[in-house]
Amino acid sequence: MQKSDFFSKRLLWVTGKGGVGKTTVAISLALLAAESGKRVLLIEVSPTSRISRFLGIPEIVYKEREILPDIFALNIDPRYAVEEYMKLQLKFRFLYNRVLKNKLFRIFATALPGLDDLTTAGKIWYMENLKRKDGSPLFDLVIVDAPATGHCFNLLRVPRATIETVKFGPIKNQTQPIQDLFTDPERTLVNIVALPEEMPASETLEFAEKVRSLSIPLGVVFINGVYPEVDEERFMVLSQKLANEGMEDVVEILSSIEKKGTMQKKYVKILEENFAPNVVKIPFLFTPSFTREELIRIATIINVEMSVG
Ligand SMILES: Nc1ncnc2c1ncn2[C@@H]1O[C@H](COP(=O)(O)OP(=O)(O)OP(=O)(O)O)[C@@H](O)[C@H]1O
Ligand SMILES: [Mg+2]
Repeated sequence: MQKSDFFSKRLLWVTGKGGVGKTTVAISLALLAAESGKRVLLIEVSPTSRISRFLGIPEIVYKEREILPDIFALNIDPRYAVEEYMKLQLKFRFLYNRVLKNKLFRIFATALPGLDDLTTAGKIWYMENLKRKDGSPLFDLVIVDAPATGHCFNLLRVPRATIETVKFGPIKNQTQPIQDLFTDPERTLVNIVALPEEMPASETLEFAEKVRSLSIPLGVVFINGVYPEVDEERFMVLSQKLANEGMEDVVEILSSIEKKGTMQKKYVKILEENFAPNVVKIPFLFTPSFTREELIRIATIINVEMSVG
């Protein structure tokens, strides 16, 4: 997918199995979009703020704030999303106080299946839909550092499931624009981060199928943590040389890298066969710490990969 097509959308989801690099890719995409002059909102759907840890900044909270030039961020805690939704619904304050401050109601509300997900999806739509006084969008692009695939699927499905359940009335009317946004290929893309390993690769194929079944547009599959390709012959010669110099421990490390790279090849191929040309490969960075500098490196790599193909 061309970079210009990708960044012309309004809502980019980044999901994948736990720990595969979703937050890494989401921040890198935000850096790239901001660099090209966009005002970006990065939404984190996670009980703990990982973005702030990556960037070494104070915790990201429910109220958005600018964390880097042209990058705003917020964290959706579903409890706040439910409360905010209720406030918007219950315009009369006395009623709001009576209903929301009621302990029993709170227990009831959080126990409603799908309410957390619906208000989270609603908050994402609401932020995407925010306008300036002149009617132009407040944010040029919203990037969601989404939960892992299972929970993310519930978020993607909840508008449709709600509409199918309630069929008509105010809840349907409020949910329809969320569903319209999520299924619009001009505005939304669901992107998946995958490691080139057996389980993440097969889960990526399954998840992509499920997203398609919701008529939600799929974007890019980011294959993360790809090991360098090693030319076998050169590797043998080099290993021999190092061994002759008494550096057996280095040979051992290199050979484990070579083995992992060989193992990965099969899964890179499967992912490429299924998703090319919408595939972006991100190398494994051999670094003792993962900071803003590494994120900028990854953003630069994504930029180059997307510009060529
Ligand atoms: N290309 C890479 N090279 C080396 N390390 C990486 C790379 N991408 C991510 N990592 C490391 O992997 C770890 C997990 O990354 P990240 O937090 O982005 O994953 P995640 O999918 O968001 O995890 P979670 O499911 O917990 O939200 C990070 O600590 C990061 O340092
Ligand atoms: Mg994360």
